[in-house]
Amino acid sequence: MVDTGKRIAVTGASGKAGFWIANHLVEKGYDVLATDVAPPRPGLKARFLRADLTEYGEAIEILGGQDAVVHMANIAASGIFTESHTFNTNIVMNANVFQAAGAVGVSRVVWASSETTLGLPFDPPLYAPVDEDHFPHPTSTYALSKVVTEEMAVHHARW
Ligand SMILES: NC(=O)c1ccc[n+]([C@@H]2O[C@H](COP(=O)([O-])OP(=O)(O)OC[C@H]3O[C@@H](n4cnc5c(N)ncnc54)[C@H](O)[C@@H]3O)[C@@H](O)[C@H]2O)c1
Repeated sequence: MVDTGKRIAVTGASGKAGFWIANHLVEKGYDVLATDVAPPRPGLKARFLRADLTEYGEAIEILGGQDAVVHMANIAASGIFTESHTFNTNIVMNANVFQAAGAVGVSRVVWASSETTLGLPFDPPLYAPVDEDHFPHPTSTYALSKVVTEEMAVHHARW
């Protein structure tokens, strides 16, 4: 393994995608700081810090000194929490991570949107075959949080 000398924070590291992303990046020689509001999963190879990213200060502490962030933390579907909680939590978390990245100089941000921004896979499309003009057609507050975050991402990247 080659030490890349690069530091990457992986959020949502106790979740389905973040866990594997964190371990993969460790195997590729990155210095990974894994984080989640939930405890670490057995088998995680990265250093781990528990943080609630709806708190801006916690996002600042996690991102400080990193070269990049892979932001997988979110409430990852509707039907887990109330619709309002899902929207509010995701929007605050995503805004905090983007804002903190800019504040501490993390210029590379990877985050996960969702196919639900197109109304898929839970509702029939407006037309088929679906193409990029079908965006945005959210049918839940989870999907709406992803549509709004895509817009936030455009402007944070520009700033
Ligand atoms: N799984 C899918 O099929 C799918 C499809 C499209 C997009 N996505 C998106 O990909 C990303 C990862 O999805 P996943 O399936 O790994 O989700 P997951 O639910 O397995 O993991 C998300 C993690 O975020 C953490 N989290 C929630 N609130 C938090 C908070 N306030 N602070 C810190 N951490 C918090 C949870 O504890 C959880 O471990 C999410 O953004 C999700 O919306 C997932």
